[in-house]
Amino acid sequence: MSQVTRHIGLSLGADLCWPKCYEEVLKQMNLSIDYNGQKIRFEVERITIEPFNLRQPCKYDVVLDRLTHWYHVSREWIKKSILMDDLYVLNNPWAIQAMEKQSTYCAMMRLGLPIPETWMVPAKSYSHHVDLDTTLGRYAQMFDLGAIGDQVGYPMFMKPYDGGAWKGVSHIENREMLLASYEESGTSLMHLQRSVEGFDRFVRCIGLGPQFLLVSYDPSAPLHERYEMKRNFVNDDERSLLEDMGMTINAFFGWDFNSCESLHRDGVWHPIDFANACPDSQVTSLHYFFPWIVMANLRWSIYCAATKRKMRMNQDWEPFWEIARQDMPYRDKLRAYAAIGHKRMETERFREFCEAHLSHVEEATHEFLGTALAKDTIRNKVRALFPEHEVESFTEHFWNRVQDWRRDVSQADRPY
Ligand SMILES: Nc1ncnc2c1ncn2[C@@H]1O[C@H](COP(=O)(O)OP(=O)(O)OP(=O)(O)O)[C@@H](O)[C@H]1O
Ligand SMILES: [Mg+2]
Repeated sequence: MSQVTRHIGLSLGADLCWPKCYEEVLKQMNLSIDYNGQKIRFEVERITIEPFNLRQPCKYDVVLDRLTHWYHVSREWIKKSILMDDLYVLNNPWAIQAMEKQSTYCAMMRLGLPIPETWMVPAKSYSHHVDLDTTLGRYAQMFDLGAIGDQVGYPMFMKPYDGGAWKGVSHIENREMLLASYEESGTSLMHLQRSVEGFDRFVRCIGLGPQFLLVSYDPSAPLHERYEMKRNFVNDDERSLLEDMGMTINAFFGWDFNSCESLHRDGVWHPIDFANACPDSQVTSLHYFFPWIVMANLRWSIYCAATKRKMRMNQDWEPFWEIARQDMPYRDKLRAYAAIGHKRMETERFREFCEAHLSHVEEATHEFLGTALAKDTIRNKVRALFPEHEVESFTEHFWNRVQDWRRDVSQADRPY
């Protein structure tokens, strides 16, 4: 049996905690997988940033990328490596570059997802462009923002069409607030979106390949407490609907790793933000759920590397439109979209692979997360975000949450 090594690259910026855990657990597992007549071993390495020849070969089989959405040299190196060397990347860099909130709202509206009423308004001001005055003078129509506000309805949210990290997001209760917020919006291109007011549940559905995790979310809590440790906050039907929604979105845009925020009111789950193709993966936000990210990343990347999964470069939307055109209930359509997703994400084959080759991922993660090195890793992340006098207390806090997970899984009290 021939022996081969698959190379996994980590393209990182500020991430400290999950990569260290990923590397250590992989090392500890010391995998040697018999697959298709080969013995496959794995090496992981952090990718450095440097000039590159466009014809230079790429040694990696899979890259976990956390930079594409803002760091262009890495993004362009990744694009070159996909095009020229069949690299597999989480996530598709073209889909990240081209799909903002705006595109995701439009596409999912067409698929029938109950996204709140949303308008786009031209930016309040502009950076200089040689043709700006001519263009606006000829074609920009004066508009009555108050009248648009009345059509959207109050309360509403004004937020950038391509936003993230709650930057520039405001909750608007009336016409005066709308006019004032627009005045302050500067060069950002904004959406006005009807607020899902009075929702009784807020759920984040994190998807990594065909793996999904639902977490109850409290947007009013401080950042480190937003992911709530509640259980049983959805019933089986709701879980399946939210996972189908997540799968539909991720498969449609070709994102292996994404997070979808949905609010529940009066029996309907409204997705409001699902263009998050570089989801928060930090122990300082995810605490109890952090081990899930480490394990899900390991399983999916090892699967992709071992099976030499092919990167889907084009999105191929027609099969989704075809279902959207049919006369059938929303829930059935969602199931049919998700079925395309399961096929594209190879859900069944992935599960079989995990059962055959990766059944010890949880045990290895459990073991590593109890070590002094794991605690140091958490401390390093805390130190990067919290003032010095809070480092020890918050390190203890997140460490204890991770230990809670270790205790629960060893008592077979599995939250995920
Ligand atoms: N239509 C809406 N109805 C109710 N709440 C909303 C709506 N739109 C936004 N919000 C609230 O505002 C927050 C920020 O909005 P949104 O998630 O769209 O922006 P973001 O900058 O992409 O945030 P993040 O980076 O956390 O994903 C949401 O988490 C939610 O609490
Ligand atoms: Mg959001």
